[in-house]
Amino acid sequence: MNSGKIDEQGLIQQLLPSTRIVVLTGAGISAESGIPTFRDAQDGLWSQFRPEDLASPEGFRKNPKLVFDWYAWRRNKVLEARPNSGHQILAAWEQQFPHLTLITQNVDGLHQAAGSQQVIEMHGSIHRLVCMRQRHPSPWVEAADTVPLCALCASQLRPDVVWFGEMLDRGILQRIGRALAQCDVFIAVGTSGLVYPAAGFLDEARHAGALTVVINKEKVGEDRVDLLLQGSASEILQRLQSSWNQRSQGMDSPG
Ligand code: OAD
Repeated sequence: MNSGKIDEQGLIQQLLPSTRIVVLTGAGISAESGIPTFRDAQDGLWSQFRPEDLASPEGFRKNPKLVFDWYAWRRNKVLEARPNSGHQILAAWEQQFPHLTLITQNVDGLHQAAGSQQVIEMHGSIHRLVCMRQRHPSPWVEAADTVPLCALCASQLRPDVVWFGEMLDRGILQRIGRALAQCDVFIAVGTSGLVYPAAGFLDEARHAGALTVVINKEKVGEDRVDLLLQGSASEILQRLQSSWNQRSQGMDSPG
């Protein structure tokens, strides 16, 4: 059961190979790979647009080329980026904790680039396109003067990501619901916790009796989590990993 406020060592004690852990990541984990987050200030070209206006079916219908170009710009940033030690530690956790569920709101594919094999990409992927009419999949194609069209039905191609006002895949939500209902420890890394349904996962896990942890450079969820670790996601994950390694070595050695 939820044991109330704990400290970092208390968390390490809870992280056993049998522990059912759910990790939810957001844009903050990729910030240290050079990918801009959504709600930190945007520079230059795109600073005049709100992400909500670009990441929506209405925005695409109004100005498909503008939206496509925004995703092409973000995708180029992603292609230049490398996973950081935060992504790498979570990839190692897949081996370390056989009951880990890694859910990401990010569409950048950096968890997979770091070696994670079982990632739930709840908001889709920026590396794929689908068509507007039938959701036929397509690999990425650059836009010319207009957005590219589907080879099968000639409707416009758009990024395979979830936009504001769109439903998440029902099967994905069911998988997440099952993981949250059973989890012992829930850790949210680098997410502002403002966009639903992901924003509700922490409370769902807490109600299911999980220990809840937030890793964020800001004081996010301070009043409702068991442990807030404030700082850089990669530094905190490295610190947790080295404490965990030390404790495991201590348990292995005689005496
Ligand atoms: P946000 O941009 O809303 O929040 C990023 C969070 O990461 C903030 O709370 C920052 O304080 C934190 N952060 C930034 N750098 C960090 C670092 N180095 N270490 C730790 N924390 C750091 O991004 P998300 O919460 O991921 O949805 O946004 C959620 C969703 O809103 C996105 O998936 C996207 C967006 O609209 C869709 O596109 C559907």
